Amino acid sequence: MPTDKTFYITTPIYYVNGVPHVGSATTTLLCDALARFHRLRGDKTFFLTGTDEHGSKVVEAAAKAGKTPQEVVDENSQKFRDCWRYLNISNDDFIRTTEPRHVRVVAEVFRRLQAKGDIYSAKYEGWYSVADETFLRDSEVRDGRSLETGAEVKRVIEDNYFFRLSAYQDRLHDYIQAHPDFLQPDTRRNEVLAFMKEGLRDIAISRTNTGWDIPVPDDPSQSIYVWFDAVINYLTATSWPDNAAWDTVWPADVHLVGKEIYTRFHATLWPAMLMGLGLPLPRTVLGHGWWLIGGEKGAKSKGNIPTPQEVVEHLVERSGADTEVAKDALRYYLIRDIAYKSDAEFSLDAMVARFNADLCNKLGNLLNRTLKMLAQYLEGTVPSGSAERTADGPLAVLSRETTQDVERAMLALDPGGALAAIWKLIEAGNGEIDTTAPWKLFKAGDTQGVADALYAALETTRIVSVYLTSFLPHVAGVIRQQLGLSNAPLTDWNAETRWGGLPGGTATQEAQPIFPRIDTKKNEQKPEQKTQAPKKDPKPKMEENTPPPPPALGEPVASPAVPTITIDDFAKVQLKIGEIKTADRVEGATKLLRLTVDIGEDVPRQILAGIAESYAPETLPGRKIVVVANLAPRKLRGFESQGMLMAATDAEGHAILLHPADPDAVLPGAQVR
Ligand code: MSP
Repeated sequence: MPTDKTFYITTPIYYVNGVPHVGSATTTLLCDALARFHRLRGDKTFFLTGTDEHGSKVVEAAAKAGKTPQEVVDENSQKFRDCWRYLNISNDDFIRTTEPRHVRVVAEVFRRLQAKGDIYSAKYEGWYSVADETFLRDSEVRDGRSLETGAEVKRVIEDNYFFRLSAYQDRLHDYIQAHPDFLQPDTRRNEVLAFMKEGLRDIAISRTNTGWDIPVPDDPSQSIYVWFDAVINYLTATSWPDNAAWDTVWPADVHLVGKEIYTRFHATLWPAMLMGLGLPLPRTVLGHGWWLIGGEKGAKSKGNIPTPQEVVEHLVERSGADTEVAKDALRYYLIRDIAYKSDAEFSLDAMVARFNADLCNKLGNLLNRTLKMLAQYLEGTVPSGSAERTADGPLAVLSRETTQDVERAMLALDPGGALAAIWKLIEAGNGEIDTTAPWKLFKAGDTQGVADALYAALETTRIVSVYLTSFLPHVAGVIRQQLGLSNAPLTDWNAETRWGGLPGGTATQEAQPIFPRIDTKKNEQKPEQKTQAPKKDPKPKMEENTPPPPPALGEPVASPAVPTITIDDFAKVQLKIGEIKTADRVEGATKLLRLTVDIGEDVPRQILAGIAESYAPETLPGRKIVVVANLAPRKLRGFESQGMLMAATDAEGHAILLHPADPDAVLPGAQVR
C-alpha cells in the first residue's frame, strides 16, 4: 500500500577520481529498478546518487593533470551525470559534496556531535591509506600495505579530532540484533557482528588542513576526514535540519552499496553518527558483491573493467540492435546476474548468451510470433470477449502469481529475483502458444480458439511490459507501442497488472523484431581488456544450453498437413555447395541482395536472395553456402535469379544461412544430399 512516507533510496556517492564503469553502473541500476518500481506502485519516491569530491586523491589527480581540484571535480562529476543519463537512470537528485548545501550540513553535524561530547581532540598515530581514504590499525597493515586492499599506507602522527565510535558499541549491537532487516544480506550482517566483536574504536575524523576538504568548524588548522563528510550526503539531500516535512523522507529506506564500504562505513560509522545526532537509522543497508574480471575485482584503476558505453557499443556492433535496446540489454544483464552474497564474474559472453536466450529467444519471440499470428489470423486487431474467457486460464493464473512474486522480490530488494520470476511467465507464454497451437485452431476453423489463445499471449506480453518498465524502460515502451498501447508513465501497479487490461478492438502494430540474434560463431572484436577467459563463472553459460529458436509463427516445421515425399522426389532437388563471390544491394528493395555464386560451373550464377535484413553485403563474399541449383529461373526486380540459397528462420523472422560444417573441405559445386 502506498504511504505518506517517501521511499528513499541511495547509491554510494562515487569518487570523482574514477569514471563510471559497469560496477558503479550496477549499484545505480539496482537502485533505479527499485525506485521505478516504487513509483509504479504509486509511492512517493526519492532516489539519490551523486559524487564524492573531497579527499587527498583529488588533490593528487589535479596536481598530475595540471588543473585545479575544482576543475577536476567539475569535469569528472559531469561524467557520472552523463553516464547515468545515458543509461536512463531516474535519479531525483544528484548530490556533490562540494556543494554549499552539503558543506553547511557537515559543519552542523560536526558542531552537534562536538557539543554533545562525541567529538574530542587527541593525537593520532597510525596508518593512513590515501588510495582507500582509510585509517588502519597496526593489525591491518603488513609491509607498508593494507592487508585488505593492498594499497600503500603511510605513517601519520597528527593532532586530530576523534569521533567517539566506541561509545556506540553496545547500542549498535543491540539495534542490529533487534532489527533483522537493518543489515542485509545475512552474511554481511554476520561480518559486521564479527568486526564489532573486536570492539569499535574511536575514529579520527579530521586531518591536518589539506587545503581541499571541508574545514573543521572554528579550527582552520584541520580538515574533515572524507568519509565523515561523505556519509552525511544522505542527510544533506533531505534538507535536514530545516525541512519541516523531514520525517516523511527520513529515514532512508535503503542504502545500497558495494561490500568494500559496508562494514566499516555504512554499517557502523554512519549508524553511530546518526545515533549521536539522535536521528533514526536507515531501514536497510544492503551490500552487494563485486563484479570480478578474470577472478579479480573489476576496477577502473586496474583498467580491467569496461564502461557502460563500451559494452553497449560492443552489443550494437555484434547484434545490430538499436542503441537504446542495447542499453536495456546491459541493464538486464547487470541487474539479473550481480550477486549479493558472493561475487560474480562479469563476462561479455555471458551477457551475449543472456541476450540471445532471454531477450531474443524468449521475450522477443513471444511478442513477435504473437503479433505475426494476430496479423495473419485476426487482421492485427485484439479480439473482444477473450479477456473474460481467458481470465481463469493458465496464463492469467500464472500472471497473478508472477505479480505477487515480482512485488515480493522488489520489496525484499531483489530486482534480479523479480526478473527471474518475470522470465518464468514469458517462458510460460511461449509454452502456452506451443500447446494451444493457434495455427492448428485456425486451420480447423476454430475462430474463438484462435482469438482466446492469441489474447492470452498478448495480455501476458502486456503485463510483462508493465513489469519491465522498472527494468528495461525503453524496451517496455517499444513493446507497448507494438501492442497498440500508450506509453504514458504507469502509476497503478494493481490496476496495470490485472488480467484483461488489453482492450478488445486495439489495433496492434506490425511486428518489428527488437533483439537481433547475435551470431556467436562469428569472429567478434571485443573491447580491450575483456578478452581474457573468465577464471570462474558462477552463473552457467547459457550458450550451450540455448534451445534452437522456435519458428517465427510457432508452426511446427513438419506439420501433418505437409505430404511425405519419396527419396526419388527428394533426388529431383539438386543441392550444391556454392561460394559467394559478390553481394550487392538492390536499389529500391529493402530485403533483397543480388549475389553471384560460384557453384562449380564456368560462370557464377546470379542469385537474388531475401537476406538483406540479416546480412550486410560486405560480410558475404567468401562464404560457402547451400544452393538449390535446378530451380527454374525467375525475374525479381528486373534481375534473373538463377537459383536459391538455403536458410533457416530465427525467432525474430531473420534468415540464417546454412553453411557446410567444414567449409574448407568442400569445393564449389559439391553435391549436397
Ligand atoms: N566515495 C565512496 C563511497 C561513499 S558513499 C557515502 C566510494 N566510491 S567509489 O567510487 O569507489 O564507488 C564504490 C562503489 O561502486 C561500490 O561500493 C559499488 O557500489 C560500486 N562498485 C565499484 N566497483 C565495483 C565492482 N567491481 N563490482 C560491483 N560494484 C562496484 O567508495
